[in-house]
Amino acid sequence: MHEKLYEIKSISYQIRVIEESDLRSLLLVKNDVSVHKKRFQQQKNGEAVYLGAFINNYAIGYVLLSLDNKEDVMPYTNQEKCADMIDLLIIEPLRNYGVGSKLVLACEELCRENDIFYLGLDVNPTDNFAAKRLYESLGYYTVGEIHLDGVYEYIDEAGRQGQYEDWCIDMIKRMCC
Ligand SMILES: CC(C)(COP(=O)(O)OP(=O)(O)OC[C@H]1O[C@@H](n2cnc3c(N)ncnc32)[C@H](O)[C@@H]1OP(=O)(O)O)[C@@H](O)C(=O)NCCC(=O)NCCS
Repeated sequence: MHEKLYEIKSISYQIRVIEESDLRSLLLVKNDVSVHKKRFQQQKNGEAVYLGAFINNYAIGYVLLSLDNKEDVMPYTNQEKCADMIDLLIIEPLRNYGVGSKLVLACEELCRENDIFYLGLDVNPTDNFAAKRLYESLGYYTVGEIHLDGVYEYIDEAGRQGQYEDWCIDMIKRMCC
């Protein structure tokens, strides 16, 4: 059979707070129960909001908005509190349709509702240039020095083990009221 091409005309998606009952669908985005459970706990404690993008209640992306102060950017916020956007992720086939931007805007709205007027994040400016450009287009700017955000173990396609050093820069934005 020859390959056939069809179009899906319009699909709507929903951005909402993730609930524990979404776990099965979240695992298709990132197969790591402990990560999601930790975030549910943070959300229960009022320390964070776990936001997701959904099509028919199937998760297609998420971001964790930590409401704790992002201490390292305080010198650049006039000592005003800054929330932290962590692990923004959209499933690959649905990237570049604006969903990631909408999740960022939803985080900004939540910050304003909580009287937090700075929002920040860490991004690897070389390995994740596309994400950095997206944040810049939404008004985020870099502050401070590049720093080691984490070291991750990986196994490459040949089965060799290695370590990845995630060197990141902080980006922040002041949102008007
Ligand atoms: C970074 C990431 C979350 C962005 O999500 P996304 O949904 O693709 O983001 P958007 O679609 O809102 O924006 C991406 C680009 O698509 C463009 N775009 C937005 N809507 C569009 C549309 N309807 N048609 C075409 N392009 C569009 C945006 O202008 C943006 O372009 P730019 O990079 O030149 O600014 C996604 O690529 C991802 O999950 N990456 C892996 C995880 C990751 O790196 N996360 C960031 C951690 S800091």
